[in-house]
Amino acid sequence: MNIVAHRGYSENYPENTLIAFQEAAKLDVWGVEFDVHLTKDNQLVVIHDEKINRTSNGKGFVKDMTLQELRTFDFGASFAPEFAGQTIPTLTEVLNVFKPTHHIINIEIKSDIFEYPGIEALIANEIHAFDLEKRVIISSFNHESIARFQQIMPNVKTALLFASLVVNLEEYVKNFNSEAIHIPYYYGMRSIIQRAIKNGVIVRAYTVNDHKIARQMETLGVEAVFSDVVKI
Ligand code: G3P
Ligand code: CA
Repeated sequence: MNIVAHRGYSENYPENTLIAFQEAAKLDVWGVEFDVHLTKDNQLVVIHDEKINRTSNGKGFVKDMTLQELRTFDFGASFAPEFAGQTIPTLTEVLNVFKPTHHIINIEIKSDIFEYPGIEALIANEIHAFDLEKRVIISSFNHESIARFQQIMPNVKTALLFASLVVNLEEYVKNFNSEAIHIPYYYGMRSIIQRAIKNGVIVRAYTVNDHKIARQMETLGVEAVFSDVVKI
């Protein structure tokens, strides 16, 4: 089964930090996934939540702080004291880690709550600067963001993220010119998903941390699973 290291190697390292990505880069897994937001001064940073509260020693929204301000906070110590000193990474720093590796790089645009105007073009610039067009998959729960990205960079693969399923799924996916969807794993056996797979839609499933579920996804025709554990 193809495994995607979810938020880096997030079982053993603080999620979405450089150490988590450096360790994921050493793994023989298919890909890596991480989440991107925009700072007050339009810098692309890698973090899951809109706020820094859960994963750092600071408080507040990413969108309200400059990169320099965000860099004053610790993103490692709350996971374990030995990781104190980890700061919020930029997209540039993370792409730098994976530039020399074989991994598929899934960049999730976290524009589903705050739209971060211009984020798609900024991400496209980075992908181009690193010459990573062939290894990147762009995904988002905000499908308008996907459409905007496709306009800017039609040669890069995209995937529509779903938290729940929609009626006429296949038609919806075709309209977006996306070849793939990313869904919660427990929808893998739904007939709507099984039909989509039979009809050529690529399905990847999140978040699978259990060996048996990973095998089940493989049997169901799911192409890859996002995993924190990675060695499943
Ligand atoms: O991209 C798959 C998965 O990461 C989506 O959910 O909340 O972990 O970003 P979340
Ligand atoms: Ca994500």
